[in-house]
Amino acid sequence: MPISYEKDRGRTQPSSDVKIPNNHPLSSADALESFGNGLLAWYDEHKRELPWRTAPSLYKTVVSEFMLQQTRVSTVLPYFERWLEKFPDFASLAAASEEKVVKAWEGLGYYSRARNLWKLAKEIQAFDAPPEDPETWQTFPGVGPYVAAAVTSISFGSATAVADGNVVRILTRIFAQGEQFRDGATAQRKLRPLAQALLNPNRPGDYNQAVMELGATVCNRRSPLCLTCPVLKFCQAGQRGDAEAYPNIDKKKIERLSIDRLWIVLNGALLLHKIPDDSKRLAGLYELPRPEDLPESLKPQKTVHITTKRRAIANQSIEERILRTELKGSRELSNATNLKFIPFEKLNELTLSGPHRKWVKELQEKLVFA
Ligand code: ADE
Repeated sequence: MPISYEKDRGRTQPSSDVKIPNNHPLSSADALESFGNGLLAWYDEHKRELPWRTAPSLYKTVVSEFMLQQTRVSTVLPYFERWLEKFPDFASLAAASEEKVVKAWEGLGYYSRARNLWKLAKEIQAFDAPPEDPETWQTFPGVGPYVAAAVTSISFGSATAVADGNVVRILTRIFAQGEQFRDGATAQRKLRPLAQALLNPNRPGDYNQAVMELGATVCNRRSPLCLTCPVLKFCQAGQRGDAEAYPNIDKKKIERLSIDRLWIVLNGALLLHKIPDDSKRLAGLYELPRPEDLPESLKPQKTVHITTKRRAIANQSIEERILRTELKGSRELSNATNLKFIPFEKLNELTLSGPHRKWVKELQEKLVFA
């Protein structure tokens, strides 16, 4: 279906007063139309088959967009399939326990997304029909401008452009915009009006997904595949061959952390620490305890270093030394409500943070069942 942009700029770009410079290949309405058409034609032919794209529904779109924040498609796929089996719609999700919901998210990280999705499912039950505008969507827990734009454009055809990391990369390259941004969120906020100016208003959901798809499969951060790009002729950086130089975002300072973890087994059960409910990250999840999680009287004296694990999360580089030790006594533990000995055969019933689930499994095989 050919698209027809309004030639009148004011109407083409209802919520964007961005001026595209006259010397840019996208400065005319015809060029914008051709850009949108080219991108959509490419998307129609090359888009990946993803489970939220086949027989789409509002629920599948919302779940996928929550899962895809900060997480790549390949990681999300198995979670998405399992999630839909466990919670096929908003009603079943709203009726589930918080514990079951967080358990189904185990390993995906950023667990507030699971809790917010669960709260959203409950809130949406109160509407006779789901709201269709991005402003109302932004009142739901965990929904910011990105998810509101993605969900309402894909599900209801709302002409609202998404501005995520992919969009920032693509736009700064198209306009060879070297402005230095403090962080990714600032870049997204500043470039949103420009994203809106380029949006194809006839197929906004497909257009938004096409931009994300281009960012995920062609306009890569490193080694972008400019020669196969459907919109290369509109891209100033691509034409010059220096796309990799964009965007220009301040590098985050990496914070190095070193943490000790204890491996304490008693009568076939492993000591785990439940992260307090008011914690900012990983609330309610279980991890191997740190020495400081134990009551003073039980602090281990002698430990044996078993292994060191390294991982990176956000701007932290974390080194965790796992130390094997024994408890002098376990009676004082009954007062420590966040510490529990869990029989190995019951470990799967709890929600462990992703890395700890992996380490416990590995060490259990090595140390317990060896
Ligand atoms: N990343 C975020 N949303 C996406 C979507 N709908 N398709 C592919 N990648 C995405």
